[in-house]
This record gives sequence, C-alpha cells and structure tokens, in this order.
Amino acid sequence: MQIYKQDNTFILSNNEITYSFSIEKQRYLRHRYFGKRINASTNINQPYFFDRGFCSNPFPDERDFSLDTLFQEYPDMNQGDFRSPAYVIQTEDGKRVTRFFYKGYKIIKGKPSLKGLPAIYTENDKEAATLCITLEDEYLKAKINLYYTIFKDFAAMCRHVEIVNSGKQNLYLERLMAMSMDFAGTDYDVLTLSGSHINEKNINRRHISADTIVIDSNRGASSPQETPAIFLMEREATENFGQVWGFNFVYSGDFQAVVQTGQYNSVRVQMGMNPLTFGWSLKENESFVSPETVMVYSDEGMNKMSQTFHNMYRKRLCRGVYREKIRPILINSWEAFCFDVDEEKCLSLAKKAADLGIELFVLDDGWFKNRVCDKNALGDWVEDENKFPNGIEHLVKEINKMGMQVGIWFEPEMVSPNSDLYRKHSDWIIRSQNYEPILSRCQYVLDLSNPEVCDYVIESLSKVLSKTNVTYVKWDMNRHITDLGSYYLEKDRQRELSHRYMLGLYHILDELNKRFPNVLFEGCSSGGGRFDAGMLYYMPQTWTSDNTDAVCRMKIQYGTSLLFPPITMGAHVSAVPNHQVGRVTPLQTRFIVAMSGNLGYEMDLAQISDEEKEAIKEQIAFYKSIREVIQKGSFYRLKNPQNGNEVAWNFVSEDKKTVIYCYFKILAEPLRVNTPVRLKGLDENGIYKSKTNGICYGGDELMYAGIVSKPILEDFASYVYVLEKV
Ligand code: GLA
Repeated sequence: MQIYKQDNTFILSNNEITYSFSIEKQRYLRHRYFGKRINASTNINQPYFFDRGFCSNPFPDERDFSLDTLFQEYPDMNQGDFRSPAYVIQTEDGKRVTRFFYKGYKIIKGKPSLKGLPAIYTENDKEAATLCITLEDEYLKAKINLYYTIFKDFAAMCRHVEIVNSGKQNLYLERLMAMSMDFAGTDYDVLTLSGSHINEKNINRRHISADTIVIDSNRGASSPQETPAIFLMEREATENFGQVWGFNFVYSGDFQAVVQTGQYNSVRVQMGMNPLTFGWSLKENESFVSPETVMVYSDEGMNKMSQTFHNMYRKRLCRGVYREKIRPILINSWEAFCFDVDEEKCLSLAKKAADLGIELFVLDDGWFKNRVCDKNALGDWVEDENKFPNGIEHLVKEINKMGMQVGIWFEPEMVSPNSDLYRKHSDWIIRSQNYEPILSRCQYVLDLSNPEVCDYVIESLSKVLSKTNVTYVKWDMNRHITDLGSYYLEKDRQRELSHRYMLGLYHILDELNKRFPNVLFEGCSSGGGRFDAGMLYYMPQTWTSDNTDAVCRMKIQYGTSLLFPPITMGAHVSAVPNHQVGRVTPLQTRFIVAMSGNLGYEMDLAQISDEEKEAIKEQIAFYKSIREVIQKGSFYRLKNPQNGNEVAWNFVSEDKKTVIYCYFKILAEPLRVNTPVRLKGLDENGIYKSKTNGICYGGDELMYAGIVSKPILEDFASYVYVLEKV
C-alpha cells in the first residue's frame, strides 16, 4: 500500500487497486484512474485537449482548456463545468460563486475517524494510509479538505470531505457530495437496489445512454425505497466477470447519488447529502465533515465486489464483542402474539423454544404501558404492569433459568400522541408550529437535533437495560419524517435538521454501545427500511424484511448480499400461510433460506405439530454445527432468483475446509433435465466429502463441472449439502 506524488500526479495503490489524479494548471484536480492495480506512471489517461463549442475557458489564451470537459475530482458550479457540481456554497452576498484551487496535501498514517459519524476504522496505522488534499478559496479564506484512504487488505477506498470556514463571512453549504469521480466512456450499466416495505433491495440494472440517473432519499432514513449505493459495471460484466465499481454511502439518513453522462463520452458518479433536505450554515471557525463513501473495485464481476464489501464491513465496520462472537439463535414474539404479549404467554413460548435449542427470547412490541395497539405509548419505556405483574426483571430471570438470554424491542426515536411523554413534551417532536403534523403509523418523530431529547432516550433505555439482564435490543423505526421543523433549532439552522437528527441518533447509539458493551443491537425499520452501512457501525445485524415468505426472502436476501454479509441479515422461519403473502412453503425451505443469514424463529410454537417441533430441533442442531461458516465464511451467489426458477448459493469457511451449498427450485417443472450448478470459492485441489450422501467430489469438479440438482417433485423445494474437505 502506498501513496505518493510524482510530478503533479498523486498515485494511491495497494496490491489490487490504483487510484490516481493530477494537479492541472496548479489549480484543478484532474481525475485519472480508479481500477485494477497498474504500475502507475504519470501518463495514465493523458487527455488531448480541444477547442469545443460552448466551453468556457478559465485561461483566455487557452481555448482548448475548459473545466466542462475535464475529468474532475471535486468539481465546482460556477467555473464553467456545467455538469453536476460536487458542492455549492452560498456566500453572504447571496451569490454562489467560489474559487477553490489546489493548495497542498499531506499524507496521514492510518485512517482518521469521522467525529460523530459511522465510518470504516482501522486497528493500527499499518492497515491504511490517507491522503488529504486541501483546496482553498483565498478570498473567502475557506478550505475544502478531500480525504482519500487506501487500505492494505481491501480492494477499496474511502472518501469524505471537510469544509473549514476560517474567514469572517458566514457561508452556507447548499450541496455537498462526499465524493465525485469522472469515468471515461459511457459503455456502462448502472445497478441500484430499490424497493418498498416488505419488498426491499430489488436489483435494477440498466444501460447508461445519455442524461442523468439520480437516486435519493428524503425520508429521514436511507429507506427501503432506495439504498445509498450505486454499482457501475462494464456492459458485459456479470456476477463473475468484468469490471465493477461499487459506491456505498456510510450513512443512514437522506442522501443523493448521481450518475451523469457528459457530452463528450464520460460518466460522473457522485454520492453525498441530499440537497433537498440538507443545508448547513458555517460561521467563522466552524467546519463541517461529510459522511464517507466506500468505493470498491472488482475485476471479476459483482461477486468479487461483494466479497470485498462483506470482508470490510464484517471486519472493519461492525464493532463490539459480537463482531467475532457467535450470534444467538432467537425466537421473536411478534408474529406469534403481535401486541398481545404477557408474562404467561412469553414464559410458555420461551420454554418451548428452550426445549428446541433456541438461545435468545426476544420480547417484541407490546410490553410497555398501554401498548395494546400501535396508537399508544411509544416514548413511555416502562413495563405494562397488567401484562407483566412481576416486572420485566422477573420475566428475564425466569427465562435465564431456562438457559436462554432475553432481548427486548424499542422504537426509541418515536412518540405516540397518546403517551405521557408527548403530554409532557409536545415540543419535542419534529414539526412546524404553523400546521398540524402528519401522522404515520399513528406516531410522531422525536427531534433528535435537541440534546435534551437525546438524553431522554439514552436515560430511559438505560434504565430498562441496567435493571434487567437484557442482552439484546431490537431497535425499530417505523415511519419516515415529514414536517421538517424543529422547535429547538434557530431559524437559520432549520435546514440542518435532517442531518442533525442523524447526528443525534448516532450519538445515542454510540453512548448506549459504550454503556452496554455486551448488548447485541439489531437494527430494524419496518424490516429492512434502514439496512445500511451507517447502522452496521452501531448494530452488527439488521432485520432484513418484515416479509418472511421463503420465496420473497430469497430475492430480498440475494439483493441485500450485494453489499452486506449474511451474518448481518436477520432471517426468521415463520408460520405458514405466510402472513404477508399467504404462501405455504415447506418448513425445510423456510429454514434453508433463514439459515443463510442470522437464524431466528418467529411463530407461536404452541400452534405447530410435534413432528414440526422435532424438525425444528434438528434444524437448530444443524445450524449450530455450521453457523461459524455462515458468520465468518465467504458467500458466493450462484443462481439469481430474479432470473429464473432455480436459486443457489454457497458458503465457504475461511480455511476452505467446509462448504455449505444451498439449492432451491421455486416451482416444480415437468422438464426432466440434469443441469449442474457450479460452486465457487473452493480449494480446487481439495477433495470434498458430502455429509449428506457420503459422495466425494473434487474441488475442481464442484467448481468447473458442477453438481447436478436432485430431482424434487414439489413446489418451493430445497436442499442443503455440507461438504467437508478430506
Ligand atoms: C416493525 C418491525 C416488526 C415488529 C413491529 C412491531 O414492523 O419490522 O418486526 O417489530 O414493528 O410493531
């Protein structure tokens, strides 16, 4: 891994990738290259300059030099580049003309942390190096610091920016991208992950032709509708072939990502704050730090890109004891009892779960005072004495005696109009004083830009967590933010609310992580509504979707796996007919889908037959025997549920000794064919013995010839093979 400057060119390289840009005319940063490692010279992508129509020229005598055609690193709006700007700053005179030019650079060992924000971290300075480039506007006395981190062990970089106002003027940030990059050519496809509640992370791929593709969220959360990620691919790139660049914003709030074609055969990619809901006032001596974008490069298609994201996120984004510690198999009360929980029902469900080998009982929504339906009580985090006459403490003790841990549900960012908290602090919600605020799931959003509100959340949750031996928290967020207005913020800071909300939330999560280092936090937002890299920094797992139907989940988990490793995905076996789509799928298939993530069960165990209980017991024992491979191994997608009737994937342990191969056939077919599925990531010289049928296969055989699927004459069929190296 090295960063160096040669002549006017910066080169950042590790064993796999190179990133390079130059200083042009002593002022501008010209992007040169981001891709596979090259033994970089200063000639990479040396352009020819032309005099072109409509191009403005910063140097009157050089009509062939225009910023509008330059591949830029962090472009401005008012200097003649008419493509999407990376930043827009309003000055005190109401204008938005600035002149930031290259000033200098420094190289920093390791990777600096981003104050108050989630970010990739290093454990020692040898793991990464960071280049900081400073641009300065001499008139304003303001600086833009561009940070680029390159890692020793990942084919990835991180970029973020810092704006420093050292001048006397008040500046106003109107637009701020964490990164901007110009690619040569337009022969690319763009892939994004979009969806809705119970239908998260659908894979959408399209050709770039002309114009601009923008994806964003202005919902106050990264959202199930759009994931803050863009994948740029060579047109011919596939799952295992071709060049792919993945960009993921490490942030859980509003964002914007742009893919814009330039008029002369180029593509600009940007990712950062959503200008619709972002604005920031920067007074003298104040500075602003953006969240970061992770940028991954793969020369072997989407799968290799995902491996890099998975490795990096598992090892250097997720934190705490559960980064390494085996995650418990849980039973969740929600689909069993909904709001209708009480001590007796919980103890009875817990007992049955303990008998099956389940390790953690999660008391979902409905446990706190007056919470009989979704209209009441959010914000009042005290137990309902009618439902739990002996208190939650007692419930936890009783369940602990069964040998199980206990987890509990909160939705800490919210308040119900019918709650003690709202009656006392109606000015703690996000709203405009002029209008009746809009309800969603009968609730309001707390104004986390207000430190007093954050303190309330921290203290009220701490109270429950310190008096009970709860070791897991499900952290929900079941509505999006409307009525962007804060009682707390001053008039000229109202546009800061969305980002200040996130900073408040990150502060709360950080504090709770510090106070309760042994608690496992799981993020949730009506399912995977806030399944993003920002959240994983505080909570190493996320509830992937409220849709637990096995067939739908294949797609949702497959899409989620483009960025996130299986262990971060909460995945539960639930009852049939499935409560979201009504489908009846075999228990075995529900299990194989759920065990391909972080396994749990979510059903009333009193309603199932002894035979099913026996089967679940076996499933749990089986999962325990292989879960280390699921948690720490590599995940390879083999057959895409969006493309057809067959779905397959395999896991390989870190030492390549154990392989878990999962195969699903969605609908039974009349055609009797023998089509092999080719596995990935094995030791090609190894011999692997199937624990299921005792057959030995060569690693090369499994990868290049493949394994022929068993004929199964039913819908929604599946099987799993465990192969051990002999
Ligand atoms: C959300 C979650 C569910 C459940 C309910 C409780 O919808 O995604 O899993 O916790 O809230 O109200």
